[in-house]
Amino acid sequence: MTVKDRVAVITGSGQGIGAGIAIELAKQGAKVVINDVNEQRIEETVASLNAEFGEGTAIGIKADITKQEEAKHLIDNTVEQLGKIDILVNNAGIAKDKTIRNLTEADWDNVLDVNLKGTFLTCQAASFHMIKQNYGRIINISSRAWLGFKGQANYSASKGGVVSLSRTLALELAKYQITVNTVCPGIIRTPLFEQIPEEGKENLMKLQPTKSVGEPKDIGYSVAFLASDKSSYVTGQTLFVCGGKSLFSSLSV
Ligand SMILES: NC(=O)c1ccc[n+]([C@@H]2O[C@H](COP(=O)([O-])OP(=O)(O)OC[C@H]3O[C@@H](n4cnc5c(N)ncnc54)[C@H](O)[C@@H]3O)[C@@H](O)[C@H]2O)c1
Repeated sequence: MTVKDRVAVITGSGQGIGAGIAIELAKQGAKVVINDVNEQRIEETVASLNAEFGEGTAIGIKADITKQEEAKHLIDNTVEQLGKIDILVNNAGIAKDKTIRNLTEADWDNVLDVNLKGTFLTCQAASFHMIKQNYGRIINISSRAWLGFKGQANYSASKGGVVSLSRTLALELAKYQITVNTVCPGIIRTPLFEQIPEEGKENLMKLQPTKSVGEPKDIGYSVAFLASDKSSYVTGQTLFVCGGKSLFSSLSV
């Protein structure tokens, strides 16, 4: 697949799935921009990518994607430093899980701001550059939970919004050779997953057809295809990378 010499911005890539995506794109020859709100995570991820794949593979840009000026700075500064932006992966995301009776307005706003508004802001900022160069790949990370999951009203709604946003942008941007697709991870081994008590992990596995936990690199492989030149005829699609969990009902145990 061909992402060689492409410039990719991956939001929230200081750790977890975003870092896994950055590793896969870097392995395949892309220059990657590590974005996060956490400076230390940015520095560590950039250092490890440059050590593994060669100096100049990665740069870091701190920005909070919920703020329009910072989202714009992330994209414009990428173009200033690396000359262009070919690939945008909207990965930054948060969860604040509560059932509807306990969900506060702040829980709703925070999750919608990062997961949906942040995705809109970076897509908008990147689209100006991508339209000019008549090329682009946008991959938005949603979640299998957009199908519905108890205790995740705000999270599910935000991730469903990401699917709708991506389908609409795919229609608007297709004539500029810009594709927009969504990847929906299932349970992936990240710092968040490791914190779940053993009993909780066992419960999650009950609804898991493969009886296994995915790794950040599993998301990286799918994103790398959608980010490549080989995926030019794939747009507006929603790819589940969840070990078959989307086939089941969305009941939580
Ligand atoms: N881990 C899973 O099992 C799983 C499953 C389905 C979907 N997802 C989605 O995958 C994505 C990554 O998840 P993860 O588990 O790697 O999360 P994570 O918490 O390990 O990493 C997310 C990163 O995003 C950064 N971030 C948060 N708010 C930000 C902001 N406003 N601007 C820039 N960066 C910000 C955080 O600092 C963090 O480093 C999220 O969108 C999440 O919803 C994760």
